[in-house]
Amino acid sequence: MTATIAPLTERPAWKALEAHYQQVRQVHLKQLFADDPRRGERFTAEAAGLYLDYSKNRITGETLKLLVQLAEDSGLRARIDAMFRGEKINLTEKRAVLHVALRTPRGVSIRVDGQDVVPEVHAVLDKMSDFANRVRRGAWLGHTGKRMKNVINIGIGGSYLGPEMAYLALRPYSERAMTFRFVSNVDGANFTEATHGLDPGETLFVISSKTFTTLETMTNAQTARQWLIQGLGREDAVAKHFVAVSTNAREVQKFGIDTANMFGFWDWVGGRYSMDSAIGLSTMLAVGPENFREMLAGFHAMDEHFRTAPFEQNLPALLGLLTVWYNNFFGAQTVGIMPYTAYLARFPAYLQQLQMESNGKHVDLETRRPVSYETGPVIWGEPGTDGQHSFYQLIHQGTKLIPCDLIGFCQPVSPLARHHDLLMANLFAQAEALAFGKTEEELTAEGSPAFQTPFRVCEGNRPTNVILAESLTPRSLGSLVALYEHNVFTQGAIWNIDSFDQWGVELGKVLAKRIIPELESASDPGLNHDSSTNALIRRYRRLRTGAQG
Ligand code: F6P
Repeated sequence: MTATIAPLTERPAWKALEAHYQQVRQVHLKQLFADDPRRGERFTAEAAGLYLDYSKNRITGETLKLLVQLAEDSGLRARIDAMFRGEKINLTEKRAVLHVALRTPRGVSIRVDGQDVVPEVHAVLDKMSDFANRVRRGAWLGHTGKRMKNVINIGIGGSYLGPEMAYLALRPYSERAMTFRFVSNVDGANFTEATHGLDPGETLFVISSKTFTTLETMTNAQTARQWLIQGLGREDAVAKHFVAVSTNAREVQKFGIDTANMFGFWDWVGGRYSMDSAIGLSTMLAVGPENFREMLAGFHAMDEHFRTAPFEQNLPALLGLLTVWYNNFFGAQTVGIMPYTAYLARFPAYLQQLQMESNGKHVDLETRRPVSYETGPVIWGEPGTDGQHSFYQLIHQGTKLIPCDLIGFCQPVSPLARHHDLLMANLFAQAEALAFGKTEEELTAEGSPAFQTPFRVCEGNRPTNVILAESLTPRSLGSLVALYEHNVFTQGAIWNIDSFDQWGVELGKVLAKRIIPELESASDPGLNHDSSTNALIRRYRRLRTGAQG
């Protein structure tokens, strides 16, 4: 892949950034804006329908220059090229990382192990489109001859968060005569509530799982199968009411789904990077193939921008570098994601998996030793304006530095235009208040009572990025998701970690498998865990049944 590069903290740009940080760490955004009246226009970039205002960050032109230098020193350009060439940059799993191929137009070629994968991508998209059209037109009938009115996606992690986020984001584009629900959690309440009131004869289950072995998904899929068979009285009803999305045809077949009703993808698509693969089938069923392809076009436009734009104007690279700046120099622990639209209510949750499963790593790819610096921040957030009446207080006046991305749209989706002006006024006001705050002098001049004034002071100097698009459409959603995918890629390249594996989640899965029989066994399971786990299991066994365990 890339030539060996110096450890991060020994790269010249890192050292220069350390020295530079000491010079600028106290500088206030007020000063930076006063020094440069055009700052609000200069520190901006635009691509793929998204406008990024990053002027309210604690950076100078020099910071930007050094961060870009850090990207160069870290081999970001070579890594981007390696990803787009289909090289196996997921080193710990020896896999290519090619979600960008999922939105590559027909005719362009991307090779993995000598084989062009783009025609396969389009073959699956065509199969999905044909199926989605049949279901949406009422041409795909259930076992009892009824059309499908309900679609339930069963999947977890990347096989759930993207589909649910996109469905909610694009509801105005969705087929309102149909109901879409999502079952992810192995908590039976999730399945019970999702199927409540539904007629099995009108219900289609989309079982979404890359591996088709995930405990939660397989348990829910089996429950769905029983629910359907009980409701319709026949085992062969499954054929018309279950489709699978997976890379594992063998397991799909074992489950009893005809592989003719399976939509495939490939091991070079990571779970959290898969919402634009066949994992997006429920999205396509909701919004139709044309809108789905529009979304892919949005993804692709951002991919091309990321691949070709100089880092100074490259939206994902800039966002990634700013995250490194706060994470590694200011010691910020988290990043807040605040979409100013209720349609993006699940976007922060989607980004939690995308970013934290990708960059929650601690081993250097080159040396295979623990890194000596901080890696991925905690990602969290809620839609504005709700968050303003809840946790924004801490962002304004608390002791922690929390850089935030505020995401807004110039045109409302809802016809209530005045609401939209109020919503956007709040977005702009928050970015302004966080940056510039309010001093004691200003408060006094405004007549603030002396005993209150110290408590009302807002220091400001709280950084934000503002991301604006014209409106929330399938296309802008695609661009927005790709923006964050490549932002995560940039961070991972700087930190020299594998952003595409997820070994950390495995241990818990293995231990749960050991504990399941201990909970289910009728006799004393003879526990051999630590004393805390033993006591918790005993207590659960006792209280669950009410008997002495
Ligand atoms: O638990 C982690 C994980 O492997 C995620 O990376 C993945 O998105 C999720 O589980 C679901 O996996 P699958 O699609 O194979 O069911």
